[in-house]
This record gives sequence, structure tokens and C-alpha cells, in this order.
Amino acid sequence: MKTFLDLVRHRQSTRKYKNEPVPREHIEKCIETARLAPSASNSQPWKFIVVDEPELKDKVAKHTYDKVIKFNKFADKAPAMVVITLETPKTITRIGRAIKKKEWPLIDIGIAAEHFCLQADELGLGTCMIGWFNERKVQKLLDIPAKRSIALLLSVGYPPEDYKLREKKRKSLEEIVAYNSYKKEGLSG
Ligand SMILES: Cc1cc2nc3c(=O)[nH]c(=O)nc-3n(C[C@H](O)[C@H](O)[C@H](O)COP(=O)(O)O)c2cc1C
Repeated sequence: MKTFLDLVRHRQSTRKYKNEPVPREHIEKCIETARLAPSASNSQPWKFIVVDEPELKDKVAKHTYDKVIKFNKFADKAPAMVVITLETPKTITRIGRAIKKKEWPLIDIGIAAEHFCLQADELGLGTCMIGWFNERKVQKLLDIPAKRSIALLLSVGYPPEDYKLREKKRKSLEEIVAYNSYKKEGLSG
């Protein structure tokens, strides 16, 4: 069995997909793990709109790039996309957010989205989180009220057999860990 660290190392943004539909039960299993994610005051400020109807999916994908910004063109080939809306959090979260000036609902959605992507990886699916998209156009296409913000899109599909695991380019542990004081960088031992 894979360890959790193996799974985390194996998940990567997948930008090529096989022309193969994703079974809904797989997507629902991914959403189940997102559903179980923690959130500030247990607000669960999310809704997941699965777009797997091919023509509609193509239209959503087209709203993730334009003539100038083309890096999301890969979304055209994804057999499914999931649109995560930012739902109104509980009043206590809204008050706390205003006082503390922290965007907890977006943190919540980030955690839920990563649950989704890790579960997808375990099922052999590839995903890519897509933060660059035309929000207004996606709202219109999917009947999302204009006041309901879209936090993130996820493309989902099977990576091609020869899709390589890339080296993770990350800051070193030494750079990001500090014990007991922000100013004291470094690891134990
Ligand atoms: C909030 C968020 C938004 C992102 N938006 C995009 C995007 O619009 N297009 C894209 O190709 N990748 C996007 N990514 C993927 C990141 O580029 C990617 O996670 C990062 O480079 C690390 O690579 P890895 O996911 O393969 O480990 C996004 C990731 C996050 C967390």
C-alpha cells in the first residue's frame, strides 16, 4: 500500500489526458473526500459542479484561456471539469473573518480541493487546479448566480500511459522551517 507521502509525491498537475470518460462514481468518491475536509467553524463553504457533458465541458474549458493567455488550453482535452463555488460561510466565520481579516473560506476550499486531487491520484486519475478562468462566463454557462463567486476549477481525466512523473520543484525544508522563532531557520539534527 502507498504511504500518504507516496501519494503526495505522486500527485502532480496533469495537463494531458486520454480521450476516456471518467466514471461518475470516481468523481463522487473524490468529492466525498472533499466533503470530509475540515473548514473554519465547519462552515463547508463549497459546492462542486461536475461538468462531464462533453459540449458543455468544452465551453467551460474555453473560458480558462483566451488569445493572449493560453496556458490553460490543455483543459480542452480534459474529459471532465469540476467547478468549486464559494458558498456563504456561517455567520460566525463571516464575523471572525471581518475581525481577523483572514480569508478562511478560501483556505477551506484549498484543503477540500487537495483532498479531491489526492483521492483522484489514488484512483489513477490526473487533475489540475485551475485558478485562471473567466468567472462571469463560467457563471453564466452553469447558471451560477453572479453573486456566487467561483473559487477554483479542477480538470480531471486519465493521464496518458507515458505521462512522466516530474521532479517536484519546491523550496527546501531548511528554507521553510523555523523552530521557536521566525528568525531561526533550520532543521533539527
Ligand atoms: C490555487 C491554484 C491555482 C492554480 N491555477 C492553475 C492554472 O490556472 N493553470 C495551471 O496550469 N496550473 C494551475 N495551478 C497548478 C500549479 O501551477 C501547480 O500546482 C504548481 O506549479 C506545482 O506543480 P504540481 O501541481 O505539478 O506539483 C494552480 C494551483 C493552485 C493551487
